[in-house]
Amino acid sequence: YRYALRGRFFDIAATADSPEEIARQARYVDDGLMFIAEGRIAALMSWEEGQSLLKQPDDWVDLRGKLIVPGFVDTHLHYPQTEMIGAFGEQLLEWLTTYTFPVESQYGNAGHAAQMSAFFLNQLLSNGTTTALVFGTVHPESVDALFAAAAQQNMRLIAGKVMMDRNAPDYLTETAEQSYQQTRELILRWHNHQRLGYAITPRFAPTSTPALLEAVQRLREAFPDTWLHTHLSENPQEIAWVKSLWPEHENYLDVYHHYGLTGKRSVFAHAIHLQDAEWNCLHDSDSAVAFCPTSNLFLGSGLFRLQTCWQKKVKMGIGTDVGAGTTFNMLRTLGEAYKIGQLQSYKLCASEAFYHATLGGARALCLDEHIGNFSVGKEADFVVLDPAVSPLQQLRSARCKDIYEQLFMLMTLGDDRNIAQTWINGECAWNRDGLEVAA
Ligand code: GUN
Ligand code: FE
Repeated sequence: YRYALRGRFFDIAATADSPEEIARQARYVDDGLMFIAEGRIAALMSWEEGQSLLKQPDDWVDLRGKLIVPGFVDTHLHYPQTEMIGAFGEQLLEWLTTYTFPVESQYGNAGHAAQMSAFFLNQLLSNGTTTALVFGTVHPESVDALFAAAAQQNMRLIAGKVMMDRNAPDYLTETAEQSYQQTRELILRWHNHQRLGYAITPRFAPTSTPALLEAVQRLREAFPDTWLHTHLSENPQEIAWVKSLWPEHENYLDVYHHYGLTGKRSVFAHAIHLQDAEWNCLHDSDSAVAFCPTSNLFLGSGLFRLQTCWQKKVKMGIGTDVGAGTTFNMLRTLGEAYKIGQLQSYKLCASEAFYHATLGGARALCLDEHIGNFSVGKEADFVVLDPAVSPLQQLRSARCKDIYEQLFMLMTLGDDRNIAQTWINGECAWNRDGLEVAA
């Protein structure tokens, strides 16, 4: 092994189809030893069991007092919107034209894209996010820069260039044919390069002509193991607009479904105001949705229906949706998810919340064979949490009677200060205090 880490470990052992099943699959090791070899989890056992396997009695990284959980999976966000997070006053459609499109215009500049990619990845790592599904802009330069930066960290990141051929400013639109060609080149350059994956990324139905969605369909057929990433049913005006632009379709999702864009590895962000037929289609096609709590509240979009999502057995992950979302931090995002549940009499408990942010998100992205928990052989992407970093957290923490209360406290009071280290592929990629990690 390369590292043996001693600390407290929490994960969910297997994917689940109900909150009760998640609770049964929860694993907590109070004083554990995790062995890492060749970037993967080699073993996780109690200190008692594991210490005899150490090469030397003192050959372990001391993370006692810290809580180690699988790396967070952010299933939907926009890296170019980092610089406009928290823009005042508008709901979705005006927000796009007032703030988003002008900012996105800058990403044809490779230097700017590289600078913001580095900043963005640092935000992910300093918030414990080790895998993300990311929107670029319409410019191929935007994704080249992001993938190049992620490759340096050897991150498991999925991204794609936005495809848009109407209802956006001229400086951000392209033809369907250009969009096809540029996307194809990017797939050939980056898909399955190291741990990277490509997501074919039509922005949403209103900025797509039928010709563009046909181009997306051809790409999906030519590259069946890529992802499909778009927006769905976020805002009432958006839905009415889709109805007027695509009158021949039964509902919003049917526009995508008609072009073969539903299915395994398809991820639809928001999915707030769905009809029953749309939920059924998501389930039947094995598509996934991204629940984006802070974005949905910030833009006043609506309340995602967690209970319905379970009932309909639709795969779901959590997205920050930066920059409509207001934080990169998954702990804060889970806290807002809890409040969205409260407004609908749904009790999002800590084990369920951490599942969505880790293994459930991995499953939504069809990456659960590789990441999401500490099962032997999985890639060693994880977060070292400091369970109490402020007087208030310390006070509250001292009164927590078990790991679930502790995790719930972190969802409620936690933020980026609680992220002590982030490990990628078995190496420490980010470290808050400059703590030494022995090789
Ligand atoms: N729908 C289409 N584009 C966007 C976007 O950039 N952000 C959000 N939240 N919704 C969208
Ligand atoms: Fe979005």
